[in-house]
Amino acid sequence: MTAAVIDGKAFAEGLRARVGTLAVAFEAKAGRKAGLAVVLVGEDPASQVYVRSKGKSTLEAGMNSFEHKLPADTSEADLLAVVEQLNADPAVDGILVQLPLPAHMDEQKVIATIAPDKDVDGFHVINAGRLAVGQTGFVPCTPLGCLMLLKDRLGDLSGLDAVVIGRSNIVGKPMAQLLIAQSCTVTVAHSRTKDLADVVRRADIVVAAVGRPAMVKGDWIKPGAVVIDVGINRVAGAVEGKTKLVGDVDYASAVAVASAITPVPGGVGPMTIAVLLRNALVAAYRNAGLELAADAV
Ligand code: GUN
Repeated sequence: MTAAVIDGKAFAEGLRARVGTLAVAFEAKAGRKAGLAVVLVGEDPASQVYVRSKGKSTLEAGMNSFEHKLPADTSEADLLAVVEQLNADPAVDGILVQLPLPAHMDEQKVIATIAPDKDVDGFHVINAGRLAVGQTGFVPCTPLGCLMLLKDRLGDLSGLDAVVIGRSNIVGKPMAQLLIAQSCTVTVAHSRTKDLADVVRRADIVVAAVGRPAMVKGDWIKPGAVVIDVGINRVAGAVEGKTKLVGDVDYASAVAVASAITPVPGGVGPMTIAVLLRNALVAAYRNAGLELAADAV
């Protein structure tokens, strides 16, 4: 059996198109564009690339993009003041503070300062709590994108065994909450898990988010399972001096066993910004008090 390749790039393009249509409708109803603010502190090259890409995608989706670039030596108090100003700005529906922050800042304190109803990353404890108890809030973009791909592939997930490898606040924990809400039986595995291969072998759904290149082998996968690979690891390539991206799953062996699998690149990666735009649009409708059907986007 060779797995179907889950085309996250195509799904993300469709999602962006739906967001774009709803952004036009928002502008007509609200008399203003939806707005997403992104705050970048310092000059981390990867973060600069992400922030530029987010800004461009936001404009393409028909929303306003507000970029705040602060020097690496900005004080925590000054960053908090910028966040407070964005909280109070009615043109700003969503706020994203790019992580990681410089070492002299307390990330949790900064996240806690973002108004929960503008927290389009879903990182605020209020939104983590809302997710845990089943209230409406914001869900982190990467796990929500993974869930969209799973539902698109499998339809109803209820009763399926899901194993999430990784327990981060950004991916593993919210992914587990989302799958519980879909009535999966969820196991969260991590670096201390005993007999990880045996745990993974039980799963109908495997979500790998550990950050270890090609760690999950094909013979860990139950035949017919659906594999979602969140890993983006840069490793030495076949060509001397060149690097390439690989996931947390050993694709070549897993593709022969799974029924469907996300590739790296082109699987989960493209979903993240598309879901961010989706969250920003949803924030705009909510903040303006406008109706948006639960399944609209
Ligand atoms: N850094 C890498 N990914 C993310 C993300 O999804 N949100 C934020 N705020 N920072 C990040």
